[in-house]
Amino acid sequence: MADSSNDVPVRFFCTAGNGMESFLVDELKRKVAAQDVIQLQGKVIFSSPATINNIIKLKSAERLFLLLNYDTPLKLPTHINQAKACSLLLSKLTGEKNELERVAMLWIRLQGELNPRAIDSEVLPSAVGVKRRKDNNGQSLVLRDKCHGEPCESKRKILEHGNPDETAMDQQPKLQSSMDQITFRICCKCSGSVARFFSTQDVSKVLGAGLTTLLGWRVDLKNPHLEINVNLTDDYCLQGIPLTKFPLANRDYVQSTGLRSTVAWAMASLAQIQPESLVVDPMCGVGTILIEAAKEHNGAYFLGIDINEEQLVKANGNVAYAHLEDRIQVLKASSLVLPLHSASVDAVVCDLPFGRKFGTKMDAAINLPLILSEMTRVLRVGGILVLLLSPQLSCLIKRLFIQEHTNSVEEKDSQTEQQDCQSDTTTFTKQGHNDGSASTQDTERLHGQSRSNPSFSLRHEKTFRVSLGAIDGLIHKYVKSSPCLE
Ligand SMILES: C[S@@+](CC[C@H](N)C(=O)[O-])C[C@H]1O[C@@H](n2cnc3c(N)ncnc32)[C@H](O)[C@@H]1O
Repeated sequence: MADSSNDVPVRFFCTAGNGMESFLVDELKRKVAAQDVIQLQGKVIFSSPATINNIIKLKSAERLFLLLNYDTPLKLPTHINQAKACSLLLSKLTGEKNELERVAMLWIRLQGELNPRAIDSEVLPSAVGVKRRKDNNGQSLVLRDKCHGEPCESKRKILEHGNPDETAMDQQPKLQSSMDQITFRICCKCSGSVARFFSTQDVSKVLGAGLTTLLGWRVDLKNPHLEINVNLTDDYCLQGIPLTKFPLANRDYVQSTGLRSTVAWAMASLAQIQPESLVVDPMCGVGTILIEAAKEHNGAYFLGIDINEEQLVKANGNVAYAHLEDRIQVLKASSLVLPLHSASVDAVVCDLPFGRKFGTKMDAAINLPLILSEMTRVLRVGGILVLLLSPQLSCLIKRLFIQEHTNSVEEKDSQTEQQDCQSDTTTFTKQGHNDGSASTQDTERLHGQSRSNPSFSLRHEKTFRVSLGAIDGLIHKYVKSSPCLE
């Protein structure tokens, strides 16, 4: 996509949970042919020839922004005075008037493409300054104008008397004239040396005053047209304007939320699901992973199993809400004895219970060999197993596995994991295993149990560490490389 006013490629960035960046880069390249991709921690900058309506369908991103500015970090000499520092900050962040106006216009245009008719949408109440709602007859009502309490003349024309089929792109020239009536607020994050010099309020004040002087825009903290996000770190300065009110990670097809949707999607993306595949989640909870997988893979079939009736009710509700009843079924059973034939499943995906919510319900550490054994038994040779584990469970599994061959990827993984396991061993010694973590005794007992364990027919492929909010999880991917030993 290019900015039609000057043919400059439109630059976007998405935020991503820690550890999700590589999934996002991969998805951007695959689905929206992203170009000039820059991967940062927690963010990915890109251009794309795709339409904005396709870009907002990304599944591994948290939020989508129109890029305003990506620049080298602000370097402040040690003994600089406050006034000089503010002036350096201002010139770093504001740039050219024309460029700022161009990006603001582009943002308005993209809002129009996202929501061509509903100027009153959740996304666009602010883009042209008027909030609308439908009256009882479905007619749009102008609620409020953000310029001067009264609808601005140019906007009143567009919104009240304008052609309802007119898109924001058509409205662009009219909007240009009201550019100076734009209101904004600044949302700022600072880290590293900049944070030692400026608070986020300092940055907001300096930039706020600068934009007002340069463009005539006004600050409105409560309900602005534009929210300018600023991120200052030791590595870069990044500014952007969010393109959607709600994060892309919010799924409008999910009623009861479970695992983070982006992580669930990432797990499904590792399962190599093909048309006609049968995919099983033997501890499905409310069915998040299966729903993410089914939305992505139209021709595949899914089975969710859980021991908890309440979870299954929610899972069934979610499946119906997402209109996936024809391809997802759920049933009550224990993952310790799966009601499935051996070698009948193409992929198993599973988010094992751990952490505060599920940690006490079952001793995953003790049952791990049995659960693994069952998951491996039902997988066909060549089938994929994707597990989400706590760092403790991840270490336990590694201790259960005797890796016959190591390749460079595995070596790299095992280095990261070795650190986890070393720090976990300390945790185990301090806390015992009542918190769901594993002691050395546990490991030895599990090892004894697992000598004839079918998990030895699994080949470990890759591990990803992802943030689950308060805690991290480890996604392990395995391939079943040989039949299970009976
Ligand atoms: C971490 S939660 C899964 C959450 C799920 N990914 C979601 O998004 O809702 C683990 C699930 O395992 C289930 N569970 C615990 N022990 C089980 C067992 N023996 N057999 C089957 N399910 C079990 C719990 O009821 C819980 O729903």
